[in-house]
Amino acid sequence: MSKTFKRTLVTTALPYANGPVHLGHLAGVYLPADIYVRFKRLSGEEIIHIGGSDEHGVPITITADREGITPQDVVDRYHAMNADAFRRCGISFDYYGRTSSPRHHETAKEFFLDIEQKGIFVRKTEKLFFDAKAGRFLSDRYVTGTCPICNNPDANGDQCEQCGTHLSPLELIDPKSKLSDAKPELRETLHWYFPLGRFQPKLEAYVEAHRDSWRQNVVNYSRTWLNQGLADRAITRDLSWGISLPLDEESARGKVLYVWFDAVLGYISFTKEWAELQGDAERWKRYWQDPETRIVNFIGKDNVVFHTLMFPAILMAWNEGRTEGCYELADNVPASEFMNFEGRKFSKSRNYAVYLGEFLDRFPADTLRYSVAMNYPENKDTDFSWSDFQNRTNGELADTLGNFIKRSVDFTNTRFDGEVPADIRLEEWIGLGIDWQETLKKIADAYEGFHFREAASLTMEVARFANRFLTDAEPWKAIKVDREAAAHTMSVSLNLCHALSLLFYPVIPETCNRIHDMLGFEGTIDTLIQPGVQVWESAAFPGLKKGHRLKGSSEILFSKIEQKDLEPELEKIAKLLAEAERREAGAVGQKMTFKPEISFDDFLKVDLRVAKVLECEPVKKASKLLKMKLQVGSEERQVLSGIAEHYKPEEMVGKQVMLVANLAERKIRGEVSQGMILAVENSDGKLFVVEPQGENIIGNSVQ
Ligand code: MF3
Ligand code: ZN
Repeated sequence: MSKTFKRTLVTTALPYANGPVHLGHLAGVYLPADIYVRFKRLSGEEIIHIGGSDEHGVPITITADREGITPQDVVDRYHAMNADAFRRCGISFDYYGRTSSPRHHETAKEFFLDIEQKGIFVRKTEKLFFDAKAGRFLSDRYVTGTCPICNNPDANGDQCEQCGTHLSPLELIDPKSKLSDAKPELRETLHWYFPLGRFQPKLEAYVEAHRDSWRQNVVNYSRTWLNQGLADRAITRDLSWGISLPLDEESARGKVLYVWFDAVLGYISFTKEWAELQGDAERWKRYWQDPETRIVNFIGKDNVVFHTLMFPAILMAWNEGRTEGCYELADNVPASEFMNFEGRKFSKSRNYAVYLGEFLDRFPADTLRYSVAMNYPENKDTDFSWSDFQNRTNGELADTLGNFIKRSVDFTNTRFDGEVPADIRLEEWIGLGIDWQETLKKIADAYEGFHFREAASLTMEVARFANRFLTDAEPWKAIKVDREAAAHTMSVSLNLCHALSLLFYPVIPETCNRIHDMLGFEGTIDTLIQPGVQVWESAAFPGLKKGHRLKGSSEILFSKIEQKDLEPELEKIAKLLAEAERREAGAVGQKMTFKPEISFDDFLKVDLRVAKVLECEPVKKASKLLKMKLQVGSEERQVLSGIAEHYKPEEMVGKQVMLVANLAERKIRGEVSQGMILAVENSDGKLFVVEPQGENIIGNSVQ
């Protein structure tokens, strides 16, 4: 059931204005979206790309506290930095907004009030930690304490970094405030909850209607949530930074909207701001409230449920009881996997990242765009490395594409006075050995299906074909004996240059504009773009007529990356990797700190047993936990473990594990855990369950 649309709205996940965007962000979200948008524009489609900064949320206030500046200072700095990096990378947003804008605050409040007035929100009083010295409620991130799962003494109130378990501050043992040395006390506070469960059937229908058109990971993540049953989600926080609740009652004082409730609405506010700038304030409605508009949300895999469940549910709540002014839901939510760097995950907290702005200080945007497109993490995580970047730049961009264009233009300039020497008939063009209609269709289908790696490599194939054509035809030899043959070769080559400038435009737009210029055209390819004008399809035909004058000069499109250009980068990466390795090498030596000594008798108190996993399933509302039924000799035990991000339930079943069998029972998320299974973490934060080898050992103790 494929629908036809009149126009497209593309949105990209709003990056937090709490740090510079890095190459992982570029690869997963912004570059693919830009390539898609540029392709559609070239095909004459009406399309806009809306993005911007997510400027709320607790981490921003933590940065501000740490640096002794205001949250506004933090977001001003990173909004400007990220907008600039995107611009330099050629990410052609139609509008790049910020969630601190008045229009956005107004929009978010309007949504809140509409849903509030319909009586959809559920109010619940809960007990939260309050720091009496600081006079503030402590949001999860402001509480630390000991993890109930792994005993890490520095677990955060929302999550334990050591074992990865999602926590609530109430679960921490010996909780402490990060704001002062006051012992946090529990106080009652009122919060607004969005009852996601009320929309469960509609959300299920929405996801199932797209099960064949959405990526498998998007459907699967959404289904996992739906299968667990959707719970109420708090959409307010006791905080001062954010969008304050638009209610004039005492109970709403000092509360703001939860950052995810407001952020997704940013897409709408920014479209309104864009429309105002177009001089047509109502124009945003064509994009959000017209079933003939195709909405596409580009995101990373960590944002899936917010876009396939939470945001749609908010829009469903708004639409409830309305016949006019209803919002449409996204037609597709292409979520990417992650692009790693030199074999490791980008991590801001581990200081392992290459920032977009810094990269562009050293290398041209198009070299980055091409390499990243060729490493697009569509279905699985990919890896970007300096050597891959160097090989693609030198071998593919410089030696293949750049070399072909320069040879074609230079030879024509010197031997044919800078004029296209002959006309190429259509039959000849088609007889060249490349099926244009078929090739263009294949590339277009790749773009439409969000297969960006495939699109970029098919395009490079055309450049390889062109380069081979020129090399094999040897016009520099032919010109001495058969000027007409050489003239013919050059006319074909120049037309191939022209076709390539259009075909490559979505991926490397700046380069294509330069080719366009060398070919003697006025303006840029951008200026050819108009809704209804098929620039893309014109690549299937010879576009240059006999007598067309080139600009007369040429330039090198890509300079090769020498080893010495990479040296500083390699040194930097070696340092970062060495740091990571040093963390890993903890196991081998120097920086080990051990817990205080225990006696042999102490050790004997720990009853370690081999157990077998009989059953394993996820735990509701605890995305990091798995619940297992274990066989220990003749006994069965239920154990909860924070390994859900590292093992699928079905992977665990049948495993032999090590169980701390005499650990006091405790309750986690309303479920008893009778013991703990052993696992180790590697330096990338991945957990490995300890699996004792051997036969007939279930129930036996470990000695
Ligand atoms: N700021 C969030 C992140 O970086 C993404 C927000 S996407 C939006 O993970 F939809 F909420 F805008
Ligand atoms: Zn832990």
